[in-house]
This record gives sequence, structure tokens and C-alpha cells, in this order.
Amino acid sequence: MRTLTRQLVAVLGRGVVPTADPIATADDVGLVRGDGCFDAMRVLGGGSGAVVENLDDHLVRFAASAATLDLSFDPDAWRALIADAVAAWKPAPEAVLKLVLTRGPESTPGVPTGFLTITELDLPAMHRARTVGLAVRTMNRGYASDTFTDAPWLLGGAKLLSYAVNAAAKREAGRHGDDDALFVSADGYALEAPTAAVIVLRDGVLITTRPGATGILDSITVRQLFAGASAEGVETRYALIPTDDLFTADGVWLASSIRGVAAVKRLDGRELAVDVDWHRRITDWSGFGGIGVAHDELLYAASVLTDSPDAARTVRGLVAARCQAHLAAGGTVDELAADLRVGLAAARQLANDEWPDLR
Ligand SMILES: Cc1ncc(COP(=O)(O)O)c(C=O)c1O
Repeated sequence: MRTLTRQLVAVLGRGVVPTADPIATADDVGLVRGDGCFDAMRVLGGGSGAVVENLDDHLVRFAASAATLDLSFDPDAWRALIADAVAAWKPAPEAVLKLVLTRGPESTPGVPTGFLTITELDLPAMHRARTVGLAVRTMNRGYASDTFTDAPWLLGGAKLLSYAVNAAAKREAGRHGDDDALFVSADGYALEAPTAAVIVLRDGVLITTRPGATGILDSITVRQLFAGASAEGVETRYALIPTDDLFTADGVWLASSIRGVAAVKRLDGRELAVDVDWHRRITDWSGFGGIGVAHDELLYAASVLTDSPDAARTVRGLVAARCQAHLAAGGTVDELAADLRVGLAAARQLANDEWPDLR
């Protein structure tokens, strides 16, 4: 297991606390029954310059999860706690802000436990997923795509603490040498990954699984991505996606607030189409573009080197477009040079790790 690099902890009603301080009692039902909910988003930077991505959307979804569980929720208290925590966070390129609310100790009914953590991200792992893509394995979730219709006790759409099944699916994928899982319904439709939504490209239309009866989480990344795509005239759709359609799609991606958008390059051992240009557009629409991704794109282009005779042209085109956009937005050449140096070092390391025979 990876050691945590750096973490900040803050507790509702107490504020920022030393990371080693206890935050729950042994009878907290969040711990002993997984009875609670959470939400997670990226923090870029820290202190007064920190950006908490899509905070409003995440707070709305967090409140909705709490309501689904009949838990009381105080948005102002959460906002104040988040502001204090972020102000105390020493800047890091990327961190994850996790908000957790449980039903609280069994001995004091009606007093929920709320806390948050900010944890520095494992950037090499994130960059690898965003650039190289993922090998994914489908796994039967065991219920039909309409199971959550009129079944409020199933808590569909809520981001529940109990992710043991999701974690087990990821471990199962790892046992097969894959990076991630994709849950499919018993009647043969793609649902979602253990920690990400699925997006399919077909004939220029972007499609994701519709929430509601499927019980899946309504992804904020997908919503943002679809808004960006729609603004550029690309059709987007919430629908049921037959699992078989994934193999013939023009592209499949997994999308989530922390890892961003990762192309599915292999599914159940079969190679899938990967489109570099769509990947760049989807990355930008989902909020994972910008100056920081010049090296991500370099890596991504490098990752398709072995497959694409046009790879060198693709790399040059991607980098040139990114440089132009950065300069047009008032960025400096020095910033670009620094960014590209990081990218080249990462690309070199990737080549060494992935294709030692090419050295
Ligand atoms: C089960 C599940 N589906 C989808 C997502 C993607 O949601 P979002 O884009 O809002 O992060 C997540 C995110 O963690 C998730 O856990």
C-alpha cells in the first residue's frame, strides 16, 4: 500500500485537528456498518490561492446523499470547515478533498459525525491513467438495469461509505492484470466503474449511462464534460449502453473528479479504439486541460507511438496547440519550458517502464 504523503484532517464542530487525533468513537455506525456518505473533489494549490473544483456541485450531491440516508446536513457549517481546511493546506499541485458524514455513534443517536481530509495525490499514478489509459475488466453487478425504480431502500444514486464491493472489484481486476473494473448489469448494460463513470463515443455522439433506475452515481465530471461538448455542438446523451456496444465504439473513457478522464485501451483483454484528438477534447471539457497537461498530452501521444505511424506529427501538433493556447492566455515561455521539461522526463520514464525493449 502507498504511504500517505501528506494529509490534513478537519472535524465538523472542531475545525482543523492534528492528523493523529481521534475523529470517531468505536461505536460510530459509519465505521461498524458503513452507514454514511461521502463526496470527493480535487483541490489545486493551497492556502489563499487554492481552487476547490466544482465545490457547489459536490456540496449539492453530498447534501442529496445525506438526505437519501435521512441524515441532517448543514451546508454553511461544511462550507466554513472547507474554507478553514483549504486555507491551512500547504499548496500541492493536486490533492483530494474528501467530505465524510456518518450517522454517528450508536450511543448518541441523532448526532452525526462529520469530518474531511485533504490528501496529496499520487500524481504519477494519475498521470499514467490520464495519459496511457486503462485496461479494464467487466464485472456483473448482479442486478438488472431497472432495479432501483421505486426502491428507495436501495439508496440508488447516493455516494455511500460502503465501497467494499467497489474495492473488491478493483482488486479482482488487479488479479487479472487489469487496472480497473466496469460494472455491468445482469441484463447486459454498462453501469459504472467502482470509482468512475463510463463514457462512450459513437458516430460523434458522447453517451453515458443514465442515473436513476440504474442506481449509479450522477457523475459531476460527466456533467461538466457534456456541458463543454454541447457548447461546441457535440451531441451528448444519457442512455442505457449495451455492454457489447463498448467493443465496437469509437472510444470508451472512465471519468471521475480525481483521476480525470482515462481512455479504456483494453476491455476484457480486447483492444479498443483510442482517438487522440477526442481524448484531448474530452480532457479539456472535463476540466483536466490547461497548462498543466502539456506533459500529460505528451505522455498520451507517446503511449500510442507503437500503434500510430503518425505519432510524431500528433505529438508535435498537440504540443504546439497547447503552447499557443498558453501564450494566447498570457502565459510565459518559461512556464511552457518548465512544463514540457516535466513532460519529457515523465515520457522518458514511461518509455523505460512500459517499453524497455524500445530503449
Ligand atoms: C461509483 C462512482 N461512479 C462515478 C463516479 C464519478 O463521479 P464524479 O465524476 O462526480 O467524481 C465516482 C466518483 O468517485 C464513483 O465513485
